[in-house]
Amino acid sequence: MGCLDGPVGARALYPIGRGRDHRGPRATVPPSTPRGPLIPRASDPTIRAVPDHRARFLRRYAVATVVYNLAVIVWGAFVRATGSGAGCGDHWPMCNGEVLPVPRSLAMFIEFTHRVTSGISLVAVAALLVLAFRWAPKGHPVRRGAVFSGALIVSEALLGAGLVLFRLVAGNTSMTRAWFGAAHLVNTFALVAALTLTAWWAHGHRRLDARARPGLAALYATALVATLAVAVTGSIAALGDTLFPARSFAEGYAQDFSAGAHLLLRLRIWHPVVAVAASVALLAGAVAGYLVTRRPATRWLGVALVGVVVVQLGLGLANVFLLAPVALQLGHLLVADLLWVTLVLLAASALERAPDAAA
Ligand code: HEM
Repeated sequence: MGCLDGPVGARALYPIGRGRDHRGPRATVPPSTPRGPLIPRASDPTIRAVPDHRARFLRRYAVATVVYNLAVIVWGAFVRATGSGAGCGDHWPMCNGEVLPVPRSLAMFIEFTHRVTSGISLVAVAALLVLAFRWAPKGHPVRRGAVFSGALIVSEALLGAGLVLFRLVAGNTSMTRAWFGAAHLVNTFALVAALTLTAWWAHGHRRLDARARPGLAALYATALVATLAVAVTGSIAALGDTLFPARSFAEGYAQDFSAGAHLLLRLRIWHPVVAVAASVALLAGAVAGYLVTRRPATRWLGVALVGVVVVQLGLGLANVFLLAPVALQLGHLLVADLLWVTLVLLAASALERAPDAAA
């Protein structure tokens, strides 16, 4: 299963990327040219040729790992929204002391399913790491992305285990639970970013070069941090909605401003405020990316980001007025993840190293 070190231009062999445009070690069209190829290929001398079927498999596998993990994340939110986090008692990784329990309650079924699916995630990311190291050459960004993904899936599992072992689940209303849950969500977003970049690089894109466009890099850093702040405040709002469900919009509104209400409810109001502020940074990132780079891929990612932000703001409003039904909570979280994936791709596209830049 070792890789082949053939010449990059050979017909049967491809660098990690699609098999078009393998005409030499340097791309002829710079990325800033509006109608140039989206991905100048075979331009990176560090990309080692691998047989076509392996390169294709790695690309598809990396994308499938992102999609699978998004599904696991949404199921994780279902565990929280249905109060099923204690379904396996305070045992981890076993479920009520058993390796393969027969579910005795719905909560146990929901929590155990989350454990099994996130266990598969761990194996899937470990396999991605192995493939990246076997098939991509030393120094290739795919390897770095896979290493970060591997580290983050381990911390993800540990944070999830912490929630169970410290009993920060089900009806626990402590702020420790809120902050622990927020840390879990930030780790989740970092994991999704690492997996997304791994898939991006597996498609033959070059590494990032923030120094070539410092202004744009600062803007994307701001947008990424702002989106994380939205996610953290969102996780607090979600916990407040789950633990203290309001019976009407008026009751929820009164809870938000009542001095005697739980801190989770009083903090809830910050989520839409931070979300609207972050949306400004996201829209600026979408517009600036295209204006600075003039790359078609960057433009389409910017357009997609604007679309996702608009949908997400609408879902957020619907959540408030419909008192956050579980299906809408899951939809809002899924779109938050899609927004994050789009932002990471936009930043990666706008900050991609020029083909003729020094390695
Ligand atoms: C950029 C836009 C937004 C992003 C990225 C975002 C993200 C999130 C995230 C990650 C959660 C936590 C979900 C979970 O842990 O299950 C959340 C929850 C929530 N968000 Fe947003 N949000 C955005 C805009 C808004 C807006 C504008 C509103 C209200 C007007 C809103 C209302 C809510 C509510 C009520 C919850 C708690 C219920 C739930 O879990 O869905 N969001 N949001």
